[in-house]
Order: sequence, then C-alpha cells, then structure tokens
Amino acid sequence: MKSLPNMGWKRLCTPLVFAAALGVSVELSAADAQVTYTVNKQTYSIDSALTDTPGDAKKGKAVAINRKKGNCLACHTMPIPEQPFHGALAPPLAGIGARYSAGQIRLRVVDPRQVNPVTLMPAFYKTAGLHRVAKKFQGKPILTAQEVEDVVAYLVTLK
Ligand code: HEC
Repeated sequence: MKSLPNMGWKRLCTPLVFAAALGVSVELSAADAQVTYTVNKQTYSIDSALTDTPGDAKKGKAVAINRKKGNCLACHTMPIPEQPFHGALAPPLAGIGARYSAGQIRLRVVDPRQVNPVTLMPAFYKTAGLHRVAKKFQGKPILTAQEVEDVVAYLVTLK
C-alpha cells in the first residue's frame, strides 16, 4: 500500500493535534455552533462567558464599529470620535461599563428583548424564536459567540 505523502499530511495534522492537546477548538468551528446560556432573571444578566477564550476589547471595538457586524453606531453614540455618523436612537454607550456589569452587558447584546420585549435593538446572539428571518440567516446569529465576548470586553472598558 502506498503511504500518504509525508509532508502534506503532517502539515495538516500538526495544528489539529496541537489544538486537541491544548483543549481548544480553534477556527475549526467556523460555523460557530450555537452556545447555550442561562439568563439570571434577578440581575438581568448572563453571568458566564459564552466562550473559554476571554474577550479581546480591541477586537470588540472593531466588531462594534463594523457596519456589517455589530453596527452599533447605527443607533448608539459611542466614545469613538474618529468614526463619523453616530446614531441617536438609543442610549449613548459612553460610561456603560460603569453602569452595568459584564454579565448585564452580555445579556443586552445577546438578547435585549429579555430586558425590553419591544426594543428596537437586534438580538446579536439568538437564533430561536425570531420572526421573518431571511433563509440564509436562519439558525445563524448575527455575531459569533467570540465576537459577543469581544464586544462585551470592549464595553466593559467604557467607564
Ligand atoms: C437598531 C438599533 C440598535 C442597534 C444596531 C444596536 N442597539 Fe443597542 N440599543 C438600542 C436601543 C433602542 C436600546 C435601548 C434599550 C431599549 O430599547 O429598551 C439599546 C440598548 C443597549 C444597551 C443598554 C444601554 C443602557 O444604557 O441601558 C447596550 C449595552 C447596547 N444597546 C449595546 C449595543 C451594542 C454593543 C450594539 C452593537 C453590537 C448595539 N447595541 C446595537 C438600539 C440598538
């Protein structure tokens, strides 16, 4: 039997084996399998992070201002003067990290309807119970779990 071409196989395998050994599931989960979370109804928060990798505030800022991702500026003013066109439809996010805990911010990004059932703000990490979702977006949250964590990490810094 012919053996597998040595180098190619190794090149493919090494990162996988490495990832498995570290217990992380790196980019393999490109589709970002849905994570379940628990809402704390007393404090209106999701106290546990959605991912094991801690949020990265710098990446979160990029997700927040990205018009195809968070697009938070469509509705919120944010303390990011270098970005033009801030919305004025929603409460300003300056100081949000002083007003809310990370868990309270997480719930408001994941599924703000848990706080206000008639809010205009989209649920950024919810796939069930939504209406009139275009077919190609069905079952897909707007942000990945990691992007949510990054955005939360960023908002926490806005004191
Ligand atoms: C379509 C408009 C819209 C977009 C886009 C939007 N929001 Fe909101 N957001 C709102 C509105 C309106 C509220 C006020 C809450 C309510 O409706 O009860 C709100 C409230 C919030 C709150 C709570 C603020 C407070 O002081 O209570 C947070 C935190 C928040 N949004 C974060 C975000 C982040 C982060 C993004 C981007 C990832 C975002 N929002 C995108 C409309 C929006």
